[in-house]
Amino acid sequence: MQKPIAATGWLVTAGALALCLAPLGLMTYQLMSGHLDPDPAKRLMQGTGEWALRGLAIILLATPLAQHGWRSLFQYRRMIGLTVFLYVSLHLLLFSQVYVGWELELLLEELNERPYVLVGFAAWCMLMPLAMTSFNSARRRLGRRWRQLHRLIYPATILAWFHLFWLSRSDVGEALAYGAVFLALLGWRLRRRLARARVPRRD
Ligand code: HEM
Repeated sequence: MQKPIAATGWLVTAGALALCLAPLGLMTYQLMSGHLDPDPAKRLMQGTGEWALRGLAIILLATPLAQHGWRSLFQYRRMIGLTVFLYVSLHLLLFSQVYVGWELELLLEELNERPYVLVGFAAWCMLMPLAMTSFNSARRRLGRRWRQLHRLIYPATILAWFHLFWLSRSDVGEALAYGAVFLALLGWRLRRRLARARVPRRD
């Protein structure tokens, strides 16, 4: 009787993974079929960046949902987190290959023209240790420090949002919408922390 349950669990995990990778599959298809013309690199930068931001919002949403009894999303936080890192790393790779061609001189020119790139890079640097330590063995080895390290998701999200806001220039509507979502999700955590701090300890 155990087998169908295990098979269902495996199927759900495969389905979740397929959902995480679907945007990448769609972007690859659109690239191959010319649907991203006339500026495929720009469209891919936008696509990978957008999906990374959406992923961050979904990860932050998992805890409040779990607290209201809906734990399904919570179980897939690691998978979603690794997917976010995949999309941001593709975003960084595209930038390095297409925008600056791995050349220091071009990179310095781009940084001068687009200083918001540095903010995005800082966010990527914060997400990297989270991806590297997302496995059970690292979690066991780091113990309590694992939780502390994984709080980097909060400054990383703020930097990622600031990167979007800065590059949006005159059209800040989308950045403000993401800002409202992140503010609500981070505000929920802050309120929970403050409420916990107010409860007197019983020792
Ligand atoms: C967590 C990290 C990051 C997130 C969530 C993110 C998100 C985004 C988003 C959503 C856009 C598209 C905005 C739009 O035009 O609608 C974008 C554009 C851009 N990002 Fe990032 N980004 C991140 C990190 C980086 C890094 C590491 C780099 C390069 C080192 C970078 C370089 C750029 C550039 C150059 C653009 C403008 C592309 C263009 O319009 O030509 N980003 N980013």
